[in-house]
Amino acid sequence: MAERDSNPDARLVIVSNRGPVTFSRSDSGEREHSRGAGGLVTALNALSRERSEAVWIASAQSDEDASVAEETSETGEPQEVEGLRILLVEHETEAYELMYNHLANPLLWLVQHGLYDLPYSPELGDETRRAWEEGYLPVNENFARAVARLLENSPEGGEPIVLVHDYQLYMVPHFLRERLGRDAFVSLFVHIPWPEPEGWRVLPGYIREGILESLLEANVVAFHTKGYVRSFIRTVRETLGVEVDEEEGVIAYEGREVWVRPYPISIDPNEFEELAGSEEVLEQEETVKNLPGRLLLRVDRMDLSKNIVRGFHAYDRMLEQHPEMKGEVTFLARLQPSRGDIPEYARYAEAIKETVQGVNQKHAKESWEPIVLSMEDDFMLSVAAYKNYDVLLVNAVRDGMNLIAKEAVVANGKNGVLILSENAGAHEELGENALTVNPFDIDEQAKALYEALTMPDDERARRFEALRRTIQANTIEEWAEAQLEDIAAYRERYGKGR
Ligand code: G6P
Repeated sequence: MAERDSNPDARLVIVSNRGPVTFSRSDSGEREHSRGAGGLVTALNALSRERSEAVWIASAQSDEDASVAEETSETGEPQEVEGLRILLVEHETEAYELMYNHLANPLLWLVQHGLYDLPYSPELGDETRRAWEEGYLPVNENFARAVARLLENSPEGGEPIVLVHDYQLYMVPHFLRERLGRDAFVSLFVHIPWPEPEGWRVLPGYIREGILESLLEANVVAFHTKGYVRSFIRTVRETLGVEVDEEEGVIAYEGREVWVRPYPISIDPNEFEELAGSEEVLEQEETVKNLPGRLLLRVDRMDLSKNIVRGFHAYDRMLEQHPEMKGEVTFLARLQPSRGDIPEYARYAEAIKETVQGVNQKHAKESWEPIVLSMEDDFMLSVAAYKNYDVLLVNAVRDGMNLIAKEAVVANGKNGVLILSENAGAHEELGENALTVNPFDIDEQAKALYEALTMPDDERARRFEALRRTIQANTIEEWAEAQLEDIAAYRERYGKGR
């Protein structure tokens, strides 16, 4: 990878809220670490490993992370973990709480996924302004300060490239420009959906305009799909009234040009193939293989956008319509606890448990349990399930990309069928060989479940091979490379100080 980079000495900095690992202390007092949550970490992990000189800056999340942050801030040297170079930023507890639990999640997340029940929620007010001013802005500024300090400590090596990731950090480009001026290349990658301009009108003007103006301080704003690119361009035109070239994906703003580009994120297939053959996964496989009948699987963070409750309702309906399927299938739902301090999420977790209980009571037969709910955070067990599913359900209400669909196909050894929401970013690439569903339509999902569970072997194999080929043709390497090529093209075109 490095020899293909147009500027191998560039100082590359990756910035995201969630880091690749979280540190803790074992009972015997040793420092340990576990993998961070979510698809973004999966992808950036692969990118960061390929670019071994890159430093990844992320928020300290645990007490032990805070100790690591203090140690590294004394030396200025990144912490090396599993081949990654990491710097953790410690935030004031209240500021982080306001940013994470009040502004980014739920507000931005729910607006961008279109999840609000608008006749009733959200209710915004002075607290929203406080979360913005005393939470979101200071946390974003902390990140910009950490980037600037890192670059001051390593002045050699050419012009910096700062790759900022996701909706928790929209204001980082603004604060970076205050510190670095225009002689750094800055991109902001949005990993979640970008709604149409009307969707943004839920947010107060100071947030909406603040975010857009900061994003236009970046050189490139990136998304997973062409659809999100179009929506972003329209939002900028309608909200800020600036000139945009929709065809070319170029926004002229304050004498500069900002490129808006789609780069569909992916995974490192080798990583998942290797994991699938690893000792740890083999150990976990027995649990999965012992489940009766065909394996219907879903693996998700426990998030409102994932449409978990409707998925169970659809399964319920399928069993009502096809009682002969009872005992012939088990639905394994691997749900990773997420954002539990946010009331909407806590309520959703309860709704999931109640729904599972209801479906299980209604359809249980002898020792057969229709849904097996597994809520612990165990990545190896998820990979063991990826290997063995017959049908994978990804029915998100909306999803920036959804990397589970890609990881699972690569690890699967059973020609598994993919049921995929038309509102997941992954649908642009994988829709053709999946069974497409409207995430709101229970009957359509019930039908897709039945069709997938009874699909003839030759059709399963044909669809599966095609999915695999599509994923192999656009891996994380292509994702990274497309961005690095555009960075080189951008610099060539506009030179320094743009
Ligand atoms: C999604 C978001 C990421 C986030 C991840 C996990 O993939 O796009 O930015 O890190 O979910 O969520 P969490 O709130 O646990 O970081």
